Amino acid sequence: MISIATSNPVVLITGAARRIGAEIARTFHQRGFDVALHCYHSIQDANALAQELNTVRENSATVYQAQLTDIPAVKKMVQEVISWRKKINVLVNNASSFYPTTLDNANEEQWDELIGSNLKGPYFLCQAVAPTLQENNGSIVTISDIYARNPLKGYSIYCIAKAGNAMLTKSLAKELAPKVRVNGIAPGVILWPNTDDQMSDTIKQQVIEKVPLKRTGSPEDIARTALFLATSASYMTGQIITVDGGSSLT
Ligand SMILES: NC(=O)c1ccc[n+]([C@@H]2O[C@H](COP(=O)([O-])OP(=O)(O)OC[C@H]3O[C@@H](n4cnc5c(N)ncnc54)[C@H](OP(=O)(O)O)[C@@H]3O)[C@@H](O)[C@H]2O)c1
Repeated sequence: MISIATSNPVVLITGAARRIGAEIARTFHQRGFDVALHCYHSIQDANALAQELNTVRENSATVYQAQLTDIPAVKKMVQEVISWRKKINVLVNNASSFYPTTLDNANEEQWDELIGSNLKGPYFLCQAVAPTLQENNGSIVTISDIYARNPLKGYSIYCIAKAGNAMLTKSLAKELAPKVRVNGIAPGVILWPNTDDQMSDTIKQQVIEKVPLKRTGSPEDIARTALFLATSASYMTGQIITVDGGSSLT
C-alpha cells in the first residue's frame, strides 16, 4: 500500500503527454509522486509537462519515449525509469489507440496497433514492472473503457482489446497478490476523440443526452479515481471502477 508518507513514491504513466494522461500526471505529482512520463509521438508536449512539474519540484519528472507495441522498447523504458529512481511504486496504463474498424475492411496492421497499445503492450509492461512493484508493495491502475463490456458499434478491435485489458486487470490482481494490487477504471465520455473535427456539435449533444448526468466527465474525474485506487484503496484489488455519469446504466 502506497502511503503518501512513502518517501518519494514513483509513478510511471503511459500516454502521459496530453489529455487524461497529463491530468493523471499532475494529480499524482501534486500528491508528492515523482513522475515518469511515457509518450510516443507527443514528445514536445511531454517535455513541456516535465518542465512544468520540475518547476514546481526540481528533478521530479522525466520523459521516456516508447512505441508500446515494441516490447523490447517497453522493457528498456522500465529499466531506464528504475535507473532514474531505483524503483517504481505505481504503474498507470493509460496509453491507448482508438479508432473505428469494421469487419469488412479491418486489416492486420490495425489489429496489431489496437491490440498492441491496449493489451499486449500493457501486459508486457506489467511483466517488466512487477518485480519492482513487488519489492515496494506497489500497485497498477489500468484505464479500461465502458465499451469493454458493451461494445461500441464499428469499433470491434478496440472493444476486443479493452475487454482483454479488463481481464488483464483481474488476472494480474490474482497473480500479483498479496503484495501488488491491480485495479482499473472504465471511463465513459470524458474527452471527445482527437479526431473530434469529424464529430458535429449535434452528434456530441446526442451522445450527452444519453448520459444520465447530462454532461461529459472531466480528466480530473479519472485522475482522482486513479489516485484513490493507487494510494487509498488498500483492500481493493481486481476491481474496475466505472466513471461514466451513469451511461452504462442505460
Ligand atoms: N477520452 C475519453 O473520453 C475516454 C473514454 C473511455 C476510455 N478512455 C480511456 O482513457 C485513456 C486516456 O484517454 P485519452 O482520450 O486521453 O487517450 P488518447 O489521447 O486517445 O491517447 C493517449 C495517448 O496514448 C498514446 N498512445 C497511443 N498509441 C500508442 C502506442 N502504440 N505506443 C505508445 N503510446 C501510444 C499516445 O501518446 P503520444 O501522443 O505520445 O503518441 C496518446 O497521446 C485511454 O486508455 C482511453 O482508452 C478515454
